[in-house]
Amino acid sequence: MPTNWPFPRVDSLAPYGFGVTDEVKARVRASGADLIDLGLGNPDRPLSAPLVQRLHEAIDVPENHRYHLGTGLALARGAAAKWYARRYAADFDVEREVIVVLGAKEGISHLCLAVLGPEDVALVPDPCYPIHRGAPLIAGAAVEPYAVRRGLSPARALGDAIERVLRRGQRPKLVIANFPHNPTGIVLSKAELAEFVGEVMRAEALLLHDLAYADFAFGAPLAPSVFDIGIDASRVKQFAVEVISTSKSYNMPGARLGFMVGGARMIAALGHIKSYLDYGAFVPVQRAAAWALEHAEDVPRELCALYRTRAECLVQALGRAGFPELPKPEGTMFVWLELPPVWRALGSVGAACRLMERAQVATSPGAGFGPGGEGYLRLALVEDCPRLEEASARLGRLLSEDLGLARP
Ligand SMILES: Cc1ncc(COP(=O)(O)O)c(C=O)c1O
Repeated sequence: MPTNWPFPRVDSLAPYGFGVTDEVKARVRASGADLIDLGLGNPDRPLSAPLVQRLHEAIDVPENHRYHLGTGLALARGAAAKWYARRYAADFDVEREVIVVLGAKEGISHLCLAVLGPEDVALVPDPCYPIHRGAPLIAGAAVEPYAVRRGLSPARALGDAIERVLRRGQRPKLVIANFPHNPTGIVLSKAELAEFVGEVMRAEALLLHDLAYADFAFGAPLAPSVFDIGIDASRVKQFAVEVISTSKSYNMPGARLGFMVGGARMIAALGHIKSYLDYGAFVPVQRAAAWALEHAEDVPRELCALYRTRAECLVQALGRAGFPELPKPEGTMFVWLELPPVWRALGSVGAACRLMERAQVATSPGAGFGPGGEGYLRLALVEDCPRLEEASARLGRLLSEDLGLARP
């Protein structure tokens, strides 16, 4: 019996970004050390009581226990459309332009599977949340990275990447974007996002925008949507979709749900492929998410304030601990830390392992977010300020030790 068949799709996928340091983390945990885990962006706060109540109520109804076929509860799609209408100058036809997904990650994966094939090229941010690069690769397409970093215009970086693809005699088919951006925390203004979308339009490409951090822009009331940037939304719908998620905004990562909105053709393509792949999200989760979008505006507002306080707290504490000054956090739930020169030779994976073993602080190595993440660590803001200060102090002590500096 041959057991050594190649698994081409899996064999060509690098290990998942957050998994590379898991073994060391498990070892440090098993030693009984007090590990401060700032690795995964896994919200630490529980669901709010009214949301738990909505889930309970819906679970108590037997007809909510069945498969739910189709594009999601009309009630949930309607709540997403109302959410958009309340926040942005953007209206969506709930029958044709909105679909429920099992979280943003699932929506992104299957949208790529639906629209990309082996001849296609997708432009993806670098660094990026791993599925932004992984989904086109899983779909068999090639990826061309465009750089995302502070001080660089994203439109310019995208334009350069498009040029590279065109020079090879190819055409970019899909641009994946994510602002507010994981892992760098970069937030774009409406004008910057419009300039970026202008590049997509010039290239006549499709656009998939991941707006999972819609509620976590620290300097503005809202992070911009690609459907409200001063370009007629009906024009943008011809080539774009956007995905939002309840995971981070409502602390629902365990009962997560997402909504993809935008052009009817792309939404129908996603619905078509999903009709083979899943039977919809658990109805109580859809009902709770719909309720959250319509009635729980205070939750994302409070969470945004919490992450902002934590970000400021961590940045200041790292500064006091001897790290070079970090830029003021703009949004998301992460701090993107450039490795100090003394740790650069270790690489981000080596540095993350050393920090875990010697300081009992877990971070995500930048390399897990793509080649452009090398030289950085991502710190998730999933602990309160005293723990973040303790983590910074431990990292500062290790830094001093490695610099050969004696601490008083
Ligand atoms: C940019 C981004 N998109 C999507 C997700 C996952 O969203 P969901 O839980 O809805 O799949 C995350 C989670 O960390 C993320 O950072």
